[in-house]
Amino acid sequence: MQKRTMLYEGKAKRLYETDDKDLYIVSYKDDATAFNGKKRGSILGKGAINNKVTNHMMQLLEGEGIPTHFVTQLSETDTLVKAVTIIPLEVIVRNIAAGSLSSRLGLEEGVHLATPVLEFCYKRDDLDDPMVNMYHIKALSLATDEQVQQITSYALRINEVLCSYLRDLGITLVDFKLEFGMTSSGQLLLSDEISPDTCRFWDTKTNKKLDKDRFRRDLGDVEAAYQELLSRLMGDA
Ligand code: TMP
Ligand code: ASP
Repeated sequence: MQKRTMLYEGKAKRLYETDDKDLYIVSYKDDATAFNGKKRGSILGKGAINNKVTNHMMQLLEGEGIPTHFVTQLSETDTLVKAVTIIPLEVIVRNIAAGSLSSRLGLEEGVHLATPVLEFCYKRDDLDDPMVNMYHIKALSLATDEQVQQITSYALRINEVLCSYLRDLGITLVDFKLEFGMTSSGQLLLSDEISPDTCRFWDTKTNKKLDKDRFRRDLGDVEAAYQELLSRLMGDA
C-alpha cells in the first residue's frame, strides 16, 4: 500500500491517503513538542518506538473486544489504519494524580485516586485544549450522547485492560489520553496512538518515569526510557 496525498501533519505524526478511501497510512516522527508546541525537540528513534508501542497496545485491546483503527504495520515508522473522522475530544483517564490534575486540584503527584477519573478536553490547539463537560459537548455538538456513552465505556475498559497488562510488567499506568474516530460507515473506533508520548508510565518499584515527562521536565535519558518501555512490552527486558 502506497502513501498518496498527505492529509495532515501533526506535531508527532503525518497522515496520508492511500488508493483505498477507507484506509490511511500514519507515519510517526521523532519530533517532540510539549506545552502545546511551546517546547520543541527531537527524540531519536521515537517515531519507530511509538509506532511499535501503539500497535502492540491496539492489538492487545482488539483482543479484548475494543474496536481500533489498527490494520497492519508497514515499516518501522508507518502503519496502515482504517480511515476515520476524529471526534474533537481528548479523552483522559487517570489513576494517580500527576501533571495538570495535580496542579488544578492541589494534589501531590503520586497520590492514588480512589476511583479512575475521566476527563474530556476539546481538541483545539489554539485554545490549549480546554477541559469540557457533557453540557459543553452537547451545546457545541462535539459528540452525540450515544458517542459519549460508548467512549466512556471503552475508555474505562481500556484502563482496566492496560493497567492489569502493565502491572504484570512492573509498570504503573498513571494516566493516558485517547482519541476516537468514526468510519464512513458509522463505526466508532479507538484511533490515534497509545505511547509514551500520550501516557504516563512509571516503573512500579522505583517510580522512574518511562514517558514523555522526561522530555517535558528535562529529566534526561529520554531515548533510553522510551526504549526501556518498548523492551518491557516486547518481553526482552
Ligand atoms: P496532563 O496531566 O498534562 O493533563 O496529561 C494527562 C495525560 O494526557 C498524560 O498521560 C499525557 C497526555 N497528554 C497528551 O497525550 N497530549 C496532550 O496534549 C496533553 C496535555 C496530555
Ligand atoms: N502534545 C502536546 C504538545 O505537543 C502537549 C504534551 O504532550 O505535553 O505540546
